[in-house]
Amino acid sequence: MIFYFTATGNSFFAVEKLRSKNETIVSITQSHRNSNYAFDATHEQSIGFVFPVYFFGIPNAVLEFIQRLELKLPQNPYIYLVLTCGGAAGQTGRLFEQALAAKEIPLFAQFAVKMPDTYIPLFTVPTAEKQQQILKRANADLLDIQKQICRQVKGDYIRCKGPLPSLITKLIYPRYNKSRNTKNFRVSDSCDGCGLCASICPEKAIALQEKHPAWVKAQCSLCLACVHRCPKQAIDFGSGTRNKIRYLNDALSREKQALSGNQ
Ligand SMILES: Cc1cc2nc3c(=O)[nH]c(=O)nc-3n(C[C@H](O)[C@H](O)[C@H](O)COP(=O)(O)O)c2cc1C
Repeated sequence: MIFYFTATGNSFFAVEKLRSKNETIVSITQSHRNSNYAFDATHEQSIGFVFPVYFFGIPNAVLEFIQRLELKLPQNPYIYLVLTCGGAAGQTGRLFEQALAAKEIPLFAQFAVKMPDTYIPLFTVPTAEKQQQILKRANADLLDIQKQICRQVKGDYIRCKGPLPSLITKLIYPRYNKSRNTKNFRVSDSCDGCGLCASICPEKAIALQEKHPAWVKAQCSLCLACVHRCPKQAIDFGSGTRNKIRYLNDALSREKQALSGNQ
């Protein structure tokens, strides 16, 4: 069983590589939206968590999901974490281990893989050529991680923590809470009211009002799914995303079908 969170598809790309045949996958976005937190994993060989790093820490929707999770475990569970990140994970693995420990769920192994960075308020999406290079490397890394998961290895295998990981998480992760204010979202006239943004928001922070998105919660996860996936590129976050190229991993186009194939 793999629990995953993705906004722009990188983490689902990872799930595709890690998933064994017929393994159940659970979208944290869907479950959180539907307030579904009870899962029976008693017959699962392994339980994986896959999600992106935000501000060197855990996305809010993932944290809230874990805090509410009621997971029935098998007798000898093998539980692992695979993070996707644009460059450096900091101490996200350690934070997640603590979040699981608070639910008396052990974490045996943690891995991370570098993917194209989606935080466009600050950075720009890599060129198409660079994206291909990053994804090729990520593919190879994920195949390796998948072998290690099959062998049920134990330990911390995250190599891309960046310099001084505990300090950087301590300093930057608190800024996540301050940054994820929905008042910074803007909608341009090119919005045609399709409602995709409202339907994919993991926090249900967007409602369609008079055929236009309105942010109905003060804070969200800042996953930027609405910004990246808007078909009209009508949504911006502050001024930093204006006129910047959006990012979408192809894997996302296969998510719906993969979820419908769940046993
Ligand atoms: C709000 C936000 C914060 C991010 N913070 C970090 C970070 O601290 N370190 C990092 O390496 N990448 C960071 N990223 C990049 C993502 O972790 C990375 O692109 C990830 O693969 C996106 O996954 P997804 O496509 O499954 O949503 C951030 C992205 C977002 C949207």
